[in-house]
Amino acid sequence: MRSTVGWQVEGPSSTLRRMPLERRDLRPDDLAVRVDYCGVCHTDLHAVSARDGGGGRPLVPGHEFTGVVTETGPAVTRFTVGDPVAVGNIVDSCGECAMCRAGQENFCHGFPTLTYDGIDRHDGSATLGGYSREYVVRERFAYALPAGLDPAAAAPLLCAGITVWEPLRALGVGPGTRVAVAGLGGLGHLAVKIAVALGAHTSVISRSPGKADDARRLGAHGLIVSTDPEQMADARDRFDVVIDTISSPHDLGPYLRLVAMDGTLSHLGDLGPVTVETMDLLVGRKKLSSAGSGGRPETAAMLDFCAEHGITADIELLPSARVNEVLDRLRRNDVRYRFVLDMSDLD
Ligand SMILES: NC(=O)c1ccc[n+]([C@@H]2O[C@H](COP(=O)([O-])OP(=O)(O)OC[C@H]3O[C@@H](n4cnc5c(N)ncnc54)[C@H](OP(=O)(O)O)[C@@H]3O)[C@@H](O)[C@H]2O)c1
Ligand SMILES: [Zn+2]
Ligand SMILES: [Zn+2]
Repeated sequence: MRSTVGWQVEGPSSTLRRMPLERRDLRPDDLAVRVDYCGVCHTDLHAVSARDGGGGRPLVPGHEFTGVVTETGPAVTRFTVGDPVAVGNIVDSCGECAMCRAGQENFCHGFPTLTYDGIDRHDGSATLGGYSREYVVRERFAYALPAGLDPAAAAPLLCAGITVWEPLRALGVGPGTRVAVAGLGGLGHLAVKIAVALGAHTSVISRSPGKADDARRLGAHGLIVSTDPEQMADARDRFDVVIDTISSPHDLGPYLRLVAMDGTLSHLGDLGPVTVETMDLLVGRKKLSSAGSGGRPETAAMLDFCAEHGITADIELLPSARVNEVLDRLRRNDVRYRFVLDMSDLD
């Protein structure tokens, strides 16, 4: 085993503590990555909160990170020591099912191996995430970080970015498409940037009127305040695609009513079961969809697109030792628009 150090949930209070961690010895097709920057996703917060009261597998969050290759297994062909790499929220899949063969490893019938809080398919160990100084990953699930992308601001592309990229692409968003993004947070602000770069006429739906200037700076045409019934009524049936990135359970009705006839609401929040009033779908023949993560080809395509268009996240970069404060602020919606942890303080 290899030794490293990271931030692990300890005890019933869901506080993260700096702990020694073990990584597996390199398999032939593995890379060792020095983790430099790791984004803080709202899913990390859901996972930490779920540990309230203690119990469960060891939890080291973090599933959108960038760093540098420090060692390669003998069968590695695409990377050498010193290469900048990026890793997202899945690190393995069966490689054989129809989804894997179609390049949608994120939908692997055997379920993809999650970067943290997952189970390694070979040795059955619990996967520990990127809030740590080193990660060992199968070469297939590491991506070359394109030159020109700031490695700290690019880290959130690997979860937040790809999670909004796949539905935007799958729903055919392009010039002329009317897109609304509900919830202007980590996923939401990248959805705005990417939709704008794809040529869509893009709006934001937010309960935070104070984000209106930011929405325009990100390229949106405007911000609809979700708590203002008049603004919501004016926006009825106006959008071909609504990307819903809201991080708390909410009534889908008001958002479905903004979808145009035959349009789609893509619900991306990691929120468990939701209820839908079928009349909200029936009137206007609307579609409710979801998505999560991305396959290898689309992840690489998203990174190329972001490099070409100069898209990275708007980040607040903090030393990893401030992780508990960061999670608190994320819980209070005090983020514009993604926290990234600088892991160099773990040396
Ligand atoms: N499907 C996937 O694979 C996947 C991947 C990553 C994340 N997720 C999930 O996606 C969700 C968003 O993640 P994130 O990292 O973007 O979170 P985030 O940065 O915290 O942003 C969430 C946004 O939702 C809005 N919001 C929060 N609470 C709300 C409430 N009670 N009512 C209405 N709006 C509310 C806020 O926007 P405004 O202030 O603008 O209203 C907030 O900025 C989380 O549930 C996360 O677990 C899913
Ligand atoms: Zn995430
Ligand atoms: Zn598979």
